[in-house]
Amino acid sequence: MAWIITSQTRFYLHEGETLLAGLLRTGHDVNFQCQAGYCGSCRVKLVSSSHPVTYTQHPLAMLEDNDILPCCCQVTGVLTIRTTSDHTLNDS
Ligand code: FES
Repeated sequence: MAWIITSQTRFYLHEGETLLAGLLRTGHDVNFQCQAGYCGSCRVKLVSSSHPVTYTQHPLAMLEDNDILPCCCQVTGVLTIRTTSDHTLNDS
C-alpha cells in the first residue's frame, strides 16, 4: 500500500491503482496523454519518499531531478509529491 501526500490532501492508492489514477480520483489537476511513460506530460515532483520509486519498464520521457511519472511508476510506503497545479500556485 502507498500513502500519497500532496498540498491538497492525503490518500492511499487502491490495489492495482496507478499513482495517476489515484491523483485523478482525488480531484487533482494532472495532465496526461500516453499513460505509458512516453510523453512525460503527467510528470510530478517527488518531494520525499519512504521507499524508492521504481518502474517496471524504464520510461522514455525525459525527466529532470526528482521528476516521476505517475502513469507508470511503482510506489510503496509514504510519498510526498508536488503536482503541476502546485507549481502554478507557487509561481503566481
Ligand atoms: S501520461 Fe505520458 S508519460 Fe505519463
